[in-house]
Amino acid sequence: MIYSKKLQSQVPVSIEFSTPPVYEGKFTKYVVKDKKIPIGHVHLTDTSKGVIVNFIENMYPKLYSGFGKIADQIEVEHCMKRGLENFEIVSDAALNSHALHYLRGKRFFSKDVEDKIKKVIAMTPKGRKFDTKFLGSVAMYMPEELISKYKELIKKCPLLIK
Ligand SMILES: CC(C)(COP(=O)(O)OP(=O)(O)OC[C@H]1O[C@@H](n2cnc3c(N)ncnc32)[C@H](O)[C@@H]1OP(=O)(O)O)[C@@H](O)C(=O)NCCC(=O)NCCS
Repeated sequence: MIYSKKLQSQVPVSIEFSTPPVYEGKFTKYVVKDKKIPIGHVHLTDTSKGVIVNFIENMYPKLYSGFGKIADQIEVEHCMKRGLENFEIVSDAALNSHALHYLRGKRFFSKDVEDKIKKVIAMTPKGRKFDTKFLGSVAMYMPEELISKYKELIKKCPLLIK
């Protein structure tokens, strides 16, 4: 489910995936759809320990919110679908997404970056967008507690595993 701002309610989503060939690792592209309309995508590359999140995007942020959580769930569910029990999910935060990933519970390897993000969050007036482009591309991971939270959610409401 994702929140539709137009309908002001949660609406069901369907997910399609493809595995286009790439030079290194197995790459999976998930497309999240509202009925037949693509509304966002999640790009993952498999590693022996889990996945690298290459990119996520809410294509219509004015129409849908909460895409980040859908992406997080897909990342965890993708690893479970591969039969992995313990796994790591790593990504590079970029553009203005750092604070959003942080607020959803992902964490930076660097304490220095974490401190900068906390400062941006504290200093951004309500209703204004976090501007963190100056940080560039920064490595993050999904902490074990957040992975466990999604594992519990997936038991009840899977997106991929039927
Ligand atoms: C990152 C991204 C996928 C998160 O998707 P999302 O659906 O906005 O997910 P969230 O639920 O986490 O967003 C929470 C809220 O933050 C808002 N938001 C988006 N960018 C923001 C910013 N820079 N500062 C503050 N709030 C922001 C969203 O509009 C949403 O608010 P709303 O519920 O009032 O609409 C989305 O912002 C996006 O596609 N960004 C552009 C591409 C991008 O940066 N990808 C990540 C690169 S690593």
